[in-house]
Amino acid sequence: MTRVVEFEAAVARRFDDLADRFKSEVAIDDPRYRAVLDRIGPPRGLRILDLGCGKGRFARRLVDQGAGVFGLDASLRMIAEANGIERVLASASRPPFRSGSFDAIVAIESFEHIARLEHAIDECARLLARAGVLIIIDKNIFSMNLKRPWLPNAVVNAIDRRRGLAMYPAGYPASERWFNPAGLDRLLARRFERTSFESLLSHDERERFPFERFPSTRLMYVWTAERPRGGGRT
Ligand SMILES: C[S@@+](CC[C@H](N)C(=O)[O-])C[C@H]1O[C@@H](n2cnc3c(N)ncnc32)[C@H](O)[C@@H]1O
Repeated sequence: MTRVVEFEAAVARRFDDLADRFKSEVAIDDPRYRAVLDRIGPPRGLRILDLGCGKGRFARRLVDQGAGVFGLDASLRMIAEANGIERVLASASRPPFRSGSFDAIVAIESFEHIARLEHAIDECARLLARAGVLIIIDKNIFSMNLKRPWLPNAVVNAIDRRRGLAMYPAGYPASERWFNPAGLDRLLARRFERTSFESLLSHDERERFPFERFPSTRLMYVWTAERPRGGGRT
C-alpha cells in the first residue's frame, strides 16, 4: 500500500512539474471526443465522471452539451486549470463518491498512469449506475511510431527512456503503461457484462501507411465496458 501511495504521489508530482506541456482545449472533431459521444449518446442530463480530467478539456465539452460533469484529478496544477466544471482533487484509487453516482465514466489517457489497474476498474464499476458505461481511451502497446512508421512505439519509448526524454525518467518511482487491447478488455470483462474495444484513427494518422490500412498499428484505442457486474444503482 505504501508503494501505491508513493507511486500516485510521484505521478501527481510529475504532472504538477510538467503541467505547462498539457493542452487545455480539444477540437470538437477530435476522434477521442467523437468516440466518447458515440458511446454515451446525447450528453444532456447525464451524470459523468471524467477520471484523470487534467485541465478539463473533454469535461468542458460535455458540460457545454448539457451533461453534469465531475472532473477528478490527482495533480493540483492540472486541475487548477479545469475551470467550468465541478472538480475534485483526489486519486482514482479512492474516488470520493457514492456507489452508483454516475451514468458514464470517461478516462482519457489517465489509466496509463494508474498504479493499481484492477482496483481502479473495480472502483469504476462501483461508481456506475446499473446501465452505466465506462469509456477508456488510451495508448496501444503494439502501435507504430508516427514519425518513423517502421518502428514500434514500444522500441521508441525504450530509447527515449534511456535518453531521459520520456515522461518519467529512468529510475523514477512511477512509470506509464501502454495497453495490450485484448488484455485490458479481459480485465474489464471481470467486472462488466459487455465489453468491446477498437482503434481510433487520429487526424495525423489519416491517409498514412500503415495506420489507415492496419488498425492494430494505431496509437489510440477506445475500450467500452457496460453494465457493471453485481453493482450499481439505477
Ligand atoms: C495525460 S493527462 C490527460 C488529462 C485529460 N484526460 C486530457 O486528456 O486532457 C493524465 C491525467 O491523469 C491524472 N492522473 C494520473 N494518475 C491519476 C490517479 N491515480 N488519480 C487521479 N488522477 C490521475 C494526471 O494528474 C493527469 O492530469
